[in-house]
Amino acid sequence: MSTIFPKWTNALPTVLLGGVLSTLAVGVGAAWYYATPKYWRSGYMPAQPHLDELAEVRLIKVAGANPPDIPGHTYPGFSHQIHAGKLGMDCRYCHSHVEESPEANIPSVSTCVGCHADGHVNDELYAKKNRVQFVRDAWEAGVRYTVVDALKKEGKIDEAEAKSKEFAEAGLHVVKGGASLPWRRVHKVPDYVRNFPHHAHVAAGVSCYSCHGNIMEMPVVYQEQPLSMSWCLECHANPEPHLVPPSKVTDLYWVRDQLTANKNAPVTSTTDPLGVLTKGGKGLLEDLAKKPMHLLPQNCGACHY
Ligand code: HEC
Ligand code: HEC
Ligand code: HEC
Ligand code: HEC
Ligand code: HEC
Repeated sequence: MSTIFPKWTNALPTVLLGGVLSTLAVGVGAAWYYATPKYWRSGYMPAQPHLDELAEVRLIKVAGANPPDIPGHTYPGFSHQIHAGKLGMDCRYCHSHVEESPEANIPSVSTCVGCHADGHVNDELYAKKNRVQFVRDAWEAGVRYTVVDALKKEGKIDEAEAKSKEFAEAGLHVVKGGASLPWRRVHKVPDYVRNFPHHAHVAAGVSCYSCHGNIMEMPVVYQEQPLSMSWCLECHANPEPHLVPPSKVTDLYWVRDQLTANKNAPVTSTTDPLGVLTKGGKGLLEDLAKKPMHLLPQNCGACHY
């Protein structure tokens, strides 16, 4: 009997079942993906900074009214709407590496303290003391470090050790340069994608607006674009609608008007007394094409290891 069904057929039901299951999984996955609204798929919006429960409760208690108008967000944390939108700070003030480096950096607490140290920005009127206390707490850890370090350098080792112990017993952190604030990462391409080159895009005239949306209007940052492979490739195949003069890449309101209302056509600046015509996407793409090192990669190796 055993010759009718050779031995390998024993595995057949398992193989068939496996096939059915994986087809099913792909089907369900696809239906799920395409049926899910876009803002769910690309709407990750964690509270910033990510505070531990104790710090969160304290902040909610003391911060008073005015948490961001977003379900589940209980305290006013760091807001791009305030800093980049209302105060008009340039993105590069804080993300100072975007032009020179593949990586767009997140500022360290020392950048914040430039304004939020005691007595700088009026914290009765504007940045309410309680709401920015987490910035000062992080900074204080660095101040304590310099105190201990100075004693060590003066050769007062016993005093330095006593100071360290005193801080430790009071539960106070001591960190060189200040403690890092616990920001949650929002935009991330998978590890099998090479380092995404910010500087190349910014220099070519692709605005933060095209890839991150209008950050200036976001009380809390979220991912607005899919960051998928087809998203990268579509723009590389036709970047014209996204190219703006490189000097304008961080002026997100200007870019929004240029790309939507003006359809990226050439414009005459109303503020420029000479009325010089600013190039639109078409002219900028022609300029880009003339550059010797011009690259709009479609080849796998440019983006993958
Ligand atoms: C006052 C400093 C400051 C300014 C000005 C600023 N940012 Fe930020 N940015 C931060 C901090 C701090 C974070 C991390 C916390 C967060 O995600 O809100 C951040 C996060 C981001 C992120 C998300 C990073 C991630 O985790 O994926 C993007 C994108 C971003 N900023 C873009 C911009 C753009 C575009 C501008 C200019 C319109 C700008 N930022 C201006 C401080 C700043
Ligand atoms: C150029 C000065 C400047 C810098 C740099 C700056 N801020 Fe501010 N920040 C302000 C001012 C001014 C306000 C108050 C604005 C208002 O209420 O209209 C403010 C408000 C705030 C608030 C209170 C928000 C609220 O809802 O009331 C927080 C929290 C804050 N900043 C955190 C930060 C952090 C974190 C950094 C560093 C990544 C930073 N700031 C860097 C000027 C600055
Ligand atoms: C062509 C698209 C594109 C442009 C233009 C762009 N970004 Fe990004 N940005 C990305 C992608 C993709 C990531 C995720 C990169 C990764 O995971 O390595 C990212 C990540 C970031 C991060 C998080 C970095 C980190 O280490 O946490 C910040 C901050 C940021 N961008 C700021 C900016 C600013 C400011 C501008 C404009 C000056 C800008 N980006 C322009 C696509 C873009
Ligand atoms: C909105 C348009 C746009 C999007 C989206 C975009 N790119 Fe680009 N990319 C460009 C332009 C324009 C250049 C040309 C830069 C040049 O030639 O100087 C470029 C160039 C590049 C280069 C070559 C740069 C160099 O000089 O090494 C790489 C690598 C790259 N992109 C990766 C990516 C990846 C990965 C993504 C998706 C996560 C992406 N890009 C999304 C517009 C875009
Ligand atoms: C411009 C940059 C870019 C180029 C060129 C590119 N990829 Fe990708 N690829 C990506 C990014 C970004 C992702 C991550 C997408 C995500 O997270 O959804 C990705 C994901 C993938 C994946 C994982 C499955 C998926 O679709 O999410 C595979 C497989 C892949 N790429 C293969 C290739 C091959 C093969 C080529 C050449 C024909 C290629 N890629 C060219 C940027 C690129």
